[in-house]
Amino acid sequence: MIEKPEEIRVNSPDLAVTIGNMILKNPVMTASGTFGYGEEYAPFVDLNRLGAVVVKGLSLEPRSGNPPPRIMETPSGMLNAVGLQNIGVRTFIDEKLPFLRKFDTAVIANIFGETVDEYRRMAEILSGAEGVRAIEVNISCPNVNKGGIAFGARPELAAEVTRGVRGETGLPLIVKLTPNVTDIAEIALAVEAAGADAVSLINTVTGMSVDIEKRRPHLANVTGGLSGPAIRPVALRMVWQVVCAVKIPVIGIGGIMTASDALEFIITGATAIQVGTANFVNPASVLKILDGMGEYLVRHRMVNIAELIGSLNTHA
Ligand SMILES: Cc1cc2nc3c(=O)[nH]c(=O)nc-3n(C[C@H](O)[C@H](O)[C@H](O)COP(=O)(O)O)c2cc1C
Repeated sequence: MIEKPEEIRVNSPDLAVTIGNMILKNPVMTASGTFGYGEEYAPFVDLNRLGAVVVKGLSLEPRSGNPPPRIMETPSGMLNAVGLQNIGVRTFIDEKLPFLRKFDTAVIANIFGETVDEYRRMAEILSGAEGVRAIEVNISCPNVNKGGIAFGARPELAAEVTRGVRGETGLPLIVKLTPNVTDIAEIALAVEAAGADAVSLINTVTGMSVDIEKRRPHLANVTGGLSGPAIRPVALRMVWQVVCAVKIPVIGIGGIMTASDALEFIITGATAIQVGTANFVNPASVLKILDGMGEYLVRHRMVNIAELIGSLNTHA
């Protein structure tokens, strides 16, 4: 390899990161459920510039989701109870993947199920689909065979679903953790031991809001998932705990609205980040975040983002 002269390297830092056997051109991804299937945002965002597009959560069969109202704005965030509405894994492959294949970005399929077998079958189907670069497993969903407790709430259930998916796919396997637990590091360690290549966190924080005049919950589902800036300090704290516990890469998610928010996660030790609710505020947020991260590296004369990942100094 020909070495770049020092000035050129400083002005065009290398943002590439590795997750499992997947090299991403940069660490900026879209968060599942906030960027549709990519196509919806393509008029506003050059998808070629993104490290990865994580698509809306897919189930084995299509789902219509929860009844309205499903979204409620809250201070510094939003509550949603969309209920994982989606077109199903087969329609995704037939109707959405051909569009995404045209772009020079990694397509990550986010999946969820109600049984381990459903997760396994989806992993098998997606592994044969041209253009899917990795699988992200959402374990925030209730396990119908275990009385409805979320897979992500217990280390043994989280490990079981991870092992099931691992057995069906050679694609990089990212397990997406729920913050609605007492000890997130314990769950992260369990999925690492079960074969995950990376973990992403956090999913939404369970919340609730009430209309006092009607004395009814604002969401038809009563509770919903809180996202946006309100959850960022919680997300960052959990990323820190998980980074300290596991050896696999950690992908930071939660309330990232600006480049400085993203950099907090990278400095804390996240290898990559995902942008969710910010996409609803400004569809071009992801690109502004990406540009701002590059500018920070230039300003600090860093030639490679690896210099920044986990560079947090916790000494007084
Ligand atoms: C409307 C909406 C839909 C979501 N759908 C999914 C989903 O299908 N699968 C999933 O793993 N996470 C889903 N999430 C969670 C986000 O991917 C992300 O983890 C969370 O919103 C926190 O990031 P943010 O604060 O940047 O939005 C959804 C979030 C929102 C707001």
